[in-house]
Parts: sequence; structure tokens; C-alpha cells
Amino acid sequence: MTAAHSPPPGVVWHELECGSYRQDLPLWRALAARYGGPVLEIGAGIGRVALDLAGAGHRVTALEREPSLLAELSRRAGELPVARVHADARHFQLADRFGLCLVPMQTIQLLGGPSGRRAFLRCARRHLRDGGVLAVALVETLERFRTSDGGPALAAEACARDGVLYSSRPTAVVADAGGFVLERRRETIDASGERTVLDDAVHIDGLTCAELEAEALAVGLTPVERTSVPDTQEHTGSTVVIFHA
Ligand SMILES: C[S@@+](CC[C@H](N)C(=O)[O-])C[C@H]1O[C@@H](n2cnc3c(N)ncnc32)[C@H](O)[C@@H]1O
Repeated sequence: MTAAHSPPPGVVWHELECGSYRQDLPLWRALAARYGGPVLEIGAGIGRVALDLAGAGHRVTALEREPSLLAELSRRAGELPVARVHADARHFQLADRFGLCLVPMQTIQLLGGPSGRRAFLRCARRHLRDGGVLAVALVETLERFRTSDGGPALAAEACARDGVLYSSRPTAVVADAGGFVLERRRETIDASGERTVLDDAVHIDGLTCAELEAEALAVGLTPVERTSVPDTQEHTGSTVVIFHA
């Protein structure tokens, strides 16, 4: 008999806050069909995009720095053709060269500002075949609000795992030095009814398409196209900037 799978809380929060997003998948599928593989996904999380593309028959490498997320991605991958790499997007060295490198869900804005992005862009360029393509999703601006100051009360995402109820609700977007902070209230209620509340905050680097294009050009990646992923009720839309190596 196999033991029941109990994901650690970090995996459950990731699944809750990112896992249901679907709006960008048609674009990644279209790019993979157009440019071919192998495909490298940067910051693959638990495999929302990587497993979707692998399921469509593409050879995918999923790079992620959080071991618990990568372990969950491996568990979900089963027999799918997904290579897993535990590495930081700013310092990786792989033997493969890729036809397409994807950076979904504003991960480019989590890399520690211009120096982190530069380090990543250099790595990405080195790992693309000549003529390969880099596609990066970013948000130039986020609407600021704070629920406790009369801003909108956004819906919570919720799920139950191992008898624990998890819910996560965005409570504010505020400006800070160099970008934005997205605040969320994370609550759990365990089987005995005990409730815990934790306030989580994520810094998102400020970044425009023009800034990213200039940074990429400096490392030999030519901007060729911008396309957009529309807003949904739960998730902000993004611009996807596309570069040729
Ligand atoms: C917003 S999530 C996106 C997850 C996945 N790409 C998706 O679209 O569902 C950002 C992911 O990037 C990972 N990440 C952040 N900084 C990273 C870095 N420096 N190197 C590798 N992964 C990173 C996080 O651990 C997280 O899994």
C-alpha cells in the first residue's frame, strides 16, 4: 500500500495562489508549436506550464530553485518527458541547448532587480540554440489598493488538504522601492478547529517592456514581438516579450 501524499504547506500555498491560472497556457502552447523544443521553463513551480507542454508532446526541462516545488512537479510528472533541474535562474549551467525558453507569471520580476535579470539573461542566451526564442511575461504596472483602507475585498482561493483548510486572499498592492509589494492573508483551520493567520508579502520588481528589451539586447537577444495575456477576475494580465537569439 502506498502512503497518502501530504504536500508541505509551501506547496499548497503555491498551488492555491498560482495553480488555477489558465489564461496564459494557449500562448505557451502556440509558441512551443511554432518554435519547437526542447523547451526550458524558468521558475517552473509545481509544473503548471511545464506539464501542460509535456502533455502536448514537447520535450521540457523545468528549472526551479525551491526543492519542495520541484519534488511536487516530479511527483505530478509521472511518465511525462520533463527533465527537472534544481537551480537558480541567475546561475545555471546545463549541457542542453533549447529552441524555446519560457519565463511565465512575472518570474522575471522576482530575480532581484537589474543585476539579477542581467545574470539570468546571460544564462538564457548561452542556453538557447542560434535562432532560439526567449519569451518573458511581465506586468508593467499593478493597480494599487489596500482592503483595510476601503479597497476592494478580493475573493479568497481555498482548498482542503489532509484535513486542513487553507485560504489565501490578496489584501494589498503597494508601491515600494524599485517596484511593488503584493500582500496576501493566508489562513489555515486544522482538524481540531485551530485557526492560524499569516500575512505574506512578495516584492515584484518594477520593469517595463522597453527596459527588458534594452537589457536583453545588451546580451545578444533581439526583441521581435510583444503580445498580451488578458486579465482574469483573479489574476492580472501580462505582456509577453519575445526575443530571438
Ligand atoms: C509565480 S511562480 C510561477 C510558477 C510557474 N512558472 C507557473 O507559471 O505556474 C514563480 C516561480 O519562480 C521560482 N523562482 C523565483 N526565483 C527564482 C530563481 N532565482 N531561480 C529559479 N526559480 C525561481 C519560484 O520558486 C516560483 O516557483
